[in-house]
Amino acid sequence: MSDSSPATTLDRRAFMVTTASVAGPALTAGCAAPGPAAAPPAGAPRCEVVVNGRPHALRIEARASLLDVLREDLQLTGTKKGCDHGQCGACTVHVDGRRVASCLTLAAKCDGREVRTIEGLERADGALHVMQQAFIDHDALQCGYCTPGQIMAAIACVREGHAQTDDQIREYMSGNLCRCGAYVAILEAVRDGARRMKGGDHA
Ligand code: FES
Ligand code: FES
Repeated sequence: MSDSSPATTLDRRAFMVTTASVAGPALTAGCAAPGPAAAPPAGAPRCEVVVNGRPHALRIEARASLLDVLREDLQLTGTKKGCDHGQCGACTVHVDGRRVASCLTLAAKCDGREVRTIEGLERADGALHVMQQAFIDHDALQCGYCTPGQIMAAIACVREGHAQTDDQIREYMSGNLCRCGAYVAILEAVRDGARRMKGGDHA
């Protein structure tokens, strides 16, 4: 696969539009919409965090969730707000390499830590992470709203050693809900993505 081929570029654009920018407005019915960012009070905690390899020094409201800080302060809207209660997995990101529900994670707790979101997966040359590519190749998305969280969870699932069998993948991906019911293709994508990760393209 040539990462710079027109087909790949086209797929990548379509994928990023679907999963990182405007994913599934119709699907957001019943989902919590992101509210306006609350201005942090004077003396608000300072949070120094590395997000997708870039250091940020933020003044944040003490109770702000990592999800809201990512979406509203850093404009990283690829991470989705679904339930906002830790039940759907749409907001999954990695903190120090481990998956977390960012809606349940206080941003202040991420001081001095490293966060990676869906926007931080592609390589410097623009090539998608092999798990992103596997989701494209297996048509593992319909509206795409759950896809960033599914992919972040899938990568963690493989790194944790929990993608050995289909049953394992189902179990360890069960915290990520898909309202479109794309589970069969998601399973195929995670299985294939796991194989590609083990092939050394991405750790
Ligand atoms: S938004 Fe549903 S688990 Fe965080
Ligand atoms: S919610 Fe639409 S693809 Fe999963």
